[in-house]
Amino acid sequence: MTSQNKVAVVTGGASGIGAAICRALAEDGMDIAIWDLNEAAMTNVAADLEALGRRVVCSKVNVADRASVEAAAEQARNTLGPVTVLVNSAGVHATGALLDLSDEEWNRVININLNGTFICTQVLVPDMVAANWGRIINISSSSTQTGSPNMSHYVASKAGVIGFTKALAVELGGKGITVNNVPPGSVDTPMLRDLEAKGGLPGGVEAIAARNPVKRIGQPEDMAAAVAFLASDKAGYITGHTLSVNGGRYFN
Ligand SMILES: NC(=O)c1ccc[n+]([C@@H]2O[C@H](COP(=O)([O-])OP(=O)(O)OC[C@H]3O[C@@H](n4cnc5c(N)ncnc54)[C@H](O)[C@@H]3O)[C@@H](O)[C@H]2O)c1
Repeated sequence: MTSQNKVAVVTGGASGIGAAICRALAEDGMDIAIWDLNEAAMTNVAADLEALGRRVVCSKVNVADRASVEAAAEQARNTLGPVTVLVNSAGVHATGALLDLSDEEWNRVININLNGTFICTQVLVPDMVAANWGRIINISSSSTQTGSPNMSHYVASKAGVIGFTKALAVELGGKGITVNNVPPGSVDTPMLRDLEAKGGLPGGVEAIAARNPVKRIGQPEDMAAAVAFLASDKAGYITGHTLSVNGGRYFN
């Protein structure tokens, strides 16, 4: 099975890392279903992919809402065909000291980042089982590897994503499905710039770049290249893996 004409769902595909992943998978010949809350941004990404000759469907999805995920899955299958590649990139960043966190805020972040990954995966895995082939790539975070202050809800949600990845790699390995995760370091996206604007990055993006062994922050395309590899046939013997793409911020 080659990448040509495979169908990939990319959650969070309207922006940043997810948008670059859409482009990389489309360049490899996949048709793409973009699932995001941001309809206007999805339309822009879709035009870019269609210009590459790919078929694209955009669905307004809240990954934490099972009904909207199920409706989008039906739309993707009916328009493009069975989905055998899933990239869970939708997520929200959040900050807050432990003693300031409300139950509501804790649950909001866990619900989108972790429960959303669970729901999208559970809804689409039957297509992969039927094909006896599948690729699931979850976008986690390097903050789970280093720890990070004032982000316990975010870090816990992403650590959950890594645990989920490992458990599913074992559970689904015999069905031709690999499950891996990419924990980005600091990547230049609207999410990172928003954090910088709110004062969440002491010294700003420049300070992070200066501390990093490769002396720059990441670009969405750096993450997308790793994801495209994990989604390819060439990566069929890699599963349960954490592929750190962080310019040397952390060695796992
Ligand atoms: N940028 C970084 O430095 C960085 C670092 C570590 C991890 N990450 C992770 O990478 C992923 C992508 O982040 P990004 O930097 O590209 O951010 P981004 O904000 O540019 O893109 C995130 C996208 O997810 C969508 N989204 C948010 N909540 C959603 C929901 N409930 N349902 C559907 N879509 C939803 C947003 O609309 C947006 O289009 C996230 O999971 C993030 O936690 C990013």
